[in-house]
Amino acid sequence: MQHCKTESKDAFYFAGMFRITNIEFLPEYQQKESREFLSVARTVQQVINLVYTTSAFSKFYEQSVVADVSSNNKGGLLVHFWIVFVMPRAKGHIFCEDCVAAILKDSIQTSIINRTSVGSLQGLAVDMDSVVLNAGLRSDYSSTIGSDKGCSQYFYAERLSLHYPLEISATSGRLMCHFKLVAIVGYLIRLSIKSIQIEADNCVTDSLTIYDSLLPIRSSILYRICEPTRILMSFVSTNNLMLVTFKAPHIRRLSGIWAYFEVIPEQKCENTVLVKEITGFEGTISSPYYPSYYPPKCKCTWKFQTSLSTLGIALKFYNYSITKKSMKGCEHGWWEINEHMYCGSYMDHQTIFRVPSPLVHIQLQCSSRLSDKPLLVEYGSYNISQLSSQPACNTSSFRQHGPLICDGFRDCENGRDEQNCTQSIPCNNRTFKCGNDICFRKQNAKCDGTVDCPDGSDEEGCTCSRSSSTLHRIIGGTDTLEGGWPWQVSLHFVGSAYCGASVISREWLLSAAHCFHGNRLSDPTPWTAHFGMYVQGNAKFVSPVRRIVVHEYYNSQTFDYDIALLQLSIAWPETLKQLIQPICIPPAGQRVRSGEKCWVTGWGRRHEADNKGSLVLQQAEVELIDQTLCVSTYGIITSRMLCAGVMSGKRDACKGDSGGPLSCRRKSDGKWILTGIVSWGHGCGRPNFPGVYTRVSNFVPWIHKYVPSLL
Ligand code: ARG
Repeated sequence: MQHCKTESKDAFYFAGMFRITNIEFLPEYQQKESREFLSVARTVQQVINLVYTTSAFSKFYEQSVVADVSSNNKGGLLVHFWIVFVMPRAKGHIFCEDCVAAILKDSIQTSIINRTSVGSLQGLAVDMDSVVLNAGLRSDYSSTIGSDKGCSQYFYAERLSLHYPLEISATSGRLMCHFKLVAIVGYLIRLSIKSIQIEADNCVTDSLTIYDSLLPIRSSILYRICEPTRILMSFVSTNNLMLVTFKAPHIRRLSGIWAYFEVIPEQKCENTVLVKEITGFEGTISSPYYPSYYPPKCKCTWKFQTSLSTLGIALKFYNYSITKKSMKGCEHGWWEINEHMYCGSYMDHQTIFRVPSPLVHIQLQCSSRLSDKPLLVEYGSYNISQLSSQPACNTSSFRQHGPLICDGFRDCENGRDEQNCTQSIPCNNRTFKCGNDICFRKQNAKCDGTVDCPDGSDEEGCTCSRSSSTLHRIIGGTDTLEGGWPWQVSLHFVGSAYCGASVISREWLLSAAHCFHGNRLSDPTPWTAHFGMYVQGNAKFVSPVRRIVVHEYYNSQTFDYDIALLQLSIAWPETLKQLIQPICIPPAGQRVRSGEKCWVTGWGRRHEADNKGSLVLQQAEVELIDQTLCVSTYGIITSRMLCAGVMSGKRDACKGDSGGPLSCRRKSDGKWILTGIVSWGHGCGRPNFPGVYTRVSNFVPWIHKYVPSLL
């Protein structure tokens, strides 16, 4: 054994980038072994060597390594590099980060004559404004320098309107991933995150970080996520590249990221708006790339003009408000409105800002360091003179220009201005209401195939099924025909069929609450929804479940309120609409006729004594049973339940069919209606004990609360 006496040393890693303006990008630069890449890398490394070996830090300078040479939207080459310093531990001092960056920046010689930001860095033409350099981590250094291994990889996205999936997960071990996304020059990258599973610890160990660069440079972070989320969020780069790092070093349960990215064109945020209506809101403006988070460096201008000089512009901000700018800077956008400065801030209610002028010029500048939450603002006109004579709120008021009563907005914090109003303000004839009360232009119609409402409610539940070849198991059932029940879904829990559900929209399923009762069952992560399936296990489409909404009154003792909504992580594709179709929700409070024949379907057990479900989807025709009769049989039937079956027994649902549909065909228009949800029963198919179903018509407002515009 040999002992070397080594001095203990600390290495300091810096990650940086700059833009070289006078070298044109070649596709060969993407290959790290290519002559072209090596030649540029060598040149840049020599330049950086020269900068630091002639600086005060020369003693500690170890090396520089070019990690990426990429195209970018400003022209020339964007070079990403690491710089490594080593110093004896005994020295103990903290490395001055700003000093290291200043040395590089100060080495760029600019001339005042040509007045550009481009200067000469030891002979290289470098854009001064592009230089960024921050202290980085050793672990990032090794995983962004090394060749593609593990989950560190490059994605070159060349096609517009394509979703490039970015998905990785594990249930044990570790994930330390660096995804470098590069789009074609002139375009941007939009990363949409559907779900993230990580340990929530403030990003100490687990994190997802989105960078506006190809190396983990702290000052180019667009956003960081430190806890699990299932809410769709999207982020847009400011250049044609993005780095997404995912860290989960000690995985104990399912961890991962489910996301995709797209190539999108740059958007100009400039608009001239003529406000036509005589009062009321008529359109919306939004932050750039809405509904994505808006990038840190954005600028928007809007010019508004009303049709009459007596009309001013009203702006309704959603969960946001603007107040006069003080001496401090603004953190969440600064607004210049007719030459007055305001700062924006997020809040949990809407606010209205009125500008008493028919001509309004607005400029928004994004001021946050990170990407910021998307903003939606409704605009319209108001009668300038009408405002001075309104009663005051007896507490504080939200609006800067005095309140209006019964205009649909809470001006007073106590809501007094909107009390005792006889009608709510409808959208005008050029607009329609989205789920969350926002009026949208009518040219973007409902069910026209394009999502106009921020919540997608205008395109939800647009068709519910008219079809189904009702050719002809469940108890006493028969095999269905493939494709006969296109709204039938099989819900798998940790990979096995567990319950049924029905498709009610592109994104939502209806099922039974009891399927999700218990710690593990109530977590959406282990669940998947299987669509267009005939033989159990052979689905045409599978989506993870994003969210499970169990009815707040569900009673696990009595099975009262046995209903749950499931939101999918991935909407089923339009291209499968022959095989997957929503079923209609009955009108609220619809009464059913006893004796009516309906169908129950599912992969559940075919006999009470079976110990497994059916392989092929079964169907059984059952009769709706008179409520009084059912109460006399079971005793504990609430008005949220309905019974169906045949009094002889024989045809019924059974274990495994729960959550699935009881479908009834409406005579008037041939549409299939989801009358019931398989809930419970005394055994299966026993004489005089019909199946008990959740009465869907009692839950229409509850469903609409989550799925706003089902037709
Ligand atoms: N609760 C059962 C399940 O988990 C469904 C019961 C339906 N029973 C009946 N006889 N209809 O699948």
